[in-house]
Amino acid sequence: MDIQGLTTQFWQDGYIVLENFFDEKLMNEYNDLILEHYGVSPNWEHTDEFISKSAVEVIPWFPYREDKPYFDGIEKDKKFNGITDAILKDGWQNLYCMMMFSKAGSKGQAWHQDCPPEDEKKFNLNRLVYTHDITDETGGEIVVMPEAHKAGVLPVGKPHDDLEGQLVFQPKKGTVIFLHGHCFHRVMPVKKDRISSNFRAVPIGTPEDITDVCVYRNMRYRFSTSEVIEERN
Ligand SMILES: [Fe+2]
Repeated sequence: MDIQGLTTQFWQDGYIVLENFFDEKLMNEYNDLILEHYGVSPNWEHTDEFISKSAVEVIPWFPYREDKPYFDGIEKDKKFNGITDAILKDGWQNLYCMMMFSKAGSKGQAWHQDCPPEDEKKFNLNRLVYTHDITDETGGEIVVMPEAHKAGVLPVGKPHDDLEGQLVFQPKKGTVIFLHGHCFHRVMPVKKDRISSNFRAVPIGTPEDITDVCVYRNMRYRFSTSEVIEERN
């Protein structure tokens, strides 16, 4: 693997997509573990009332905060962390490992930047790992605006509208996407239950609450207090 080439590509485009990065057996095992947590049987039937009744668009789970370090096969993978070393060459640390569950019929995610882009040195690195295929049938494609990590703040506009130059990805089981937190991205509507995982990293010295304020096209939103801190129009 050409780590230097990938690093150059990451800093040019704001993301890289690596297919067949993790093997199928590990992905199947992790997918089942995640489904089990959410109370979904391995054939994707809901066994948990909360999931069936939940109106939340994305239900997060932070396994390492619950002393469930089940995903070390990703978190401690040498190749995975080697690329991270090369991208964040002045040092980095794990921010958290977050699993995300989206129910069939949910809206996905509007265009956003994970954290405010005003200080280009303050950012998070998404390390997205896909434990099942994203297809036309599942929906939930990830949409990325290339080079937008260098474009300043996300333009004001309709939250889900297409942007000129956007790229749509359907990651397959075992695919990894490294994505700069300032790079504009969104998730298309979800047609079938969807899981994705994010092993988020940050440069050394980045505040722990770096992703507390998210920038959308119509607002800035603070998660810790559940409030809109700026209307954008
Ligand atoms: Fe995001």
